[in-house]
Amino acid sequence: MNVAIQGLGTYLPERILTNHDLEAMVETSDEWITTRTGIKERHIAAEGETASDMAAKAANIALENAGITAEDVDLIVLGTITPDQQLPATACFVQEKIGAKNAFAFDVQAACTGFIYATSIAEQYIKAGTVKTALVVNTEKLSAVTNWEDRETCVLFGDGASAVVLQEATGDEKGIMSSILKSDGKYTDLLRIETGGSNEPVTAENVGENRHKMMMSGREVFKLAVGSMVSVGKEALEAAGVDVNEIKYVIPHQANMRIISSISSKLKLDLDEHFYNNLPRVGNTSSASILLALAEAIEAGKIEKGDKLLFVAFGGGLTWGAMVVEI
Ligand code: UT7
Repeated sequence: MNVAIQGLGTYLPERILTNHDLEAMVETSDEWITTRTGIKERHIAAEGETASDMAAKAANIALENAGITAEDVDLIVLGTITPDQQLPATACFVQEKIGAKNAFAFDVQAACTGFIYATSIAEQYIKAGTVKTALVVNTEKLSAVTNWEDRETCVLFGDGASAVVLQEATGDEKGIMSSILKSDGKYTDLLRIETGGSNEPVTAENVGENRHKMMMSGREVFKLAVGSMVSVGKEALEAAGVDVNEIKYVIPHQANMRIISSISSKLKLDLDEHFYNNLPRVGNTSSASILLALAEAIEAGKIEKGDKLLFVAFGGGLTWGAMVVEI
């Protein structure tokens, strides 16, 4: 059985925070952010706008795009590192907001690899015959866990949501041709939110130290990101039986243009011709990033039915993964 993307939806909040805005907040410059990361601006959720609000908007577009209703959905898998609350799952808030009353719903935490993980899980349920229609949602309100006093992280992240409807392919499209997931718990300290879990509940003291916000060892993450994404990308191509030259676009997790450029060199695929990036306009939106870029590429008329795409992602955990998809 081939499992295919039958609908796609994305949502970006209205407010835009530019590099120049950040210059007024921390000691940084548009020049540093642009040359070191490639980011020019990012979207920031409105006051009171939740991760599940953004997810529901993206999900409703994906359902409409697939030509189905929320009641047709059997399963919701939601990837996020910024759940509305610790309990219950954000997927349940989305279920209620869109009216997917026949679905069961749960969250997956794989940080920036959340889209690959959530999609791969949903694909297995469909292949097993347990569900017919799955809704995969990725939503990130990273502005809520960003330490706005830390210039090393606050310039990187943005908010947004994306969703896909997955079903058995109806035509002759191959859909998801391979998906490879990886993790290595040796590196749990490289990207983390230390408090707020059972190990160290939130206290006035640790909030005062900003330890309820995201922390990243950027340089170490950078070093591991390139090699991991290249090797898992190659593994996914091999599993799909697809040559790298058959790939129309690689759509990598949008974290840093220098990382993406290194991946392009190592895969020997031209950056301008075979990579689609929207990092300058949205920043790093963690699990939402790949589909936000895919939706833009489709909207721009750059992707046609039958094109083969390679998605690669890398993030906290560490987790990483890749997927070859024929659209
Ligand atoms: O999405 C999940 C996966 N995440 C990633 O893939 C992120 C991977 N890491 C990165 O993208 C990069 O490591 C960063 C963009 C986070 C940082 O770039 P870098 O080239 O690794 O910079 P660095 O951390 O080595 O810092 C270089 C210099 C330092 O100053 P000194 O020590 O050389 O004087 C920093 O203090 O740049 C300084 N710096 C800044 N300067 C201006 C760090 N952040 C800033 C800033 N503005 N915002």
